[in-house]
Amino acid sequence: MTDGVLFVHAFPLDARMWQEQQSALAGAVPVAAVNLPGFGGTSLAGEIMTMELAAERVVEELDRLGFDRAMVCGLSMGGYVALELWRRHGDRILGLVLANTRAEADSEEGKERRRLVAELVLSEGTEAILEQMRTLVSLEATTDVWDFVAGIVRSQPPEAVAAASLGMAERPDSRPDLPGIDVPTLVVTSTGDRLIPPEVTSSMAETIPDATLAVIDGAGHLSNVERTIEFNRLLEAHLARCGLLEQRPGR
Ligand code: MLT
Repeated sequence: MTDGVLFVHAFPLDARMWQEQQSALAGAVPVAAVNLPGFGGTSLAGEIMTMELAAERVVEELDRLGFDRAMVCGLSMGGYVALELWRRHGDRILGLVLANTRAEADSEEGKERRRLVAELVLSEGTEAILEQMRTLVSLEATTDVWDFVAGIVRSQPPEAVAAASLGMAERPDSRPDLPGIDVPTLVVTSTGDRLIPPEVTSSMAETIPDATLAVIDGAGHLSNVERTIEFNRLLEAHLARCGLLEQRPGR
């Protein structure tokens, strides 16, 4: 039986956003990052990438990797997918990291914004939403961080971005599922997150029975990209808690 770590990316990025986490864990534990349908050069799941379709893509990846179970780490949209995976295939999950994400469904205004994003990228291309994507990073983010993020966003096909935007709009309210999550869960938020306020993410840790909360000071929405060292320390401690990694001294 192989257990491993699987990372699920945010919108509208791809598996490359986890490169620092993958390198930090390589050799210590089986580790991989999935590309959701249409992202990172993979094939689309259709005009709407529902969280159900995305979760099925994650299961295919677990099967391909030969992972019976995984500690699934999802950030933002990756967290929505991780929660859907929990509902559909909870037996494949041995632990969770829910980073900079939320359990609530979109409001009507939020759904409308998603439709507008989809229309814009389909008519003008992914570049057209690049400026609005600056909120993925904090106001203090370095140029290097933004260039890294922008490079990944720019390379995603408009059809994938539109399909994910429409799919997120359809996602259900996951709050009723939180009390039933019975695997060790790390909830991560960051004070500079301009997309999902820390209190929204933090509230998940109050409802999930075996959850711990970590707040990364100053980092923006993509906390793993902006504060790699801190994020990786939290991750390693959580993997030790899940029995996947020996805790290193001093961590
Ligand atoms: C993400 O980073 O995945 C998105 O901000 C999620 C969202 O738009 O709700």
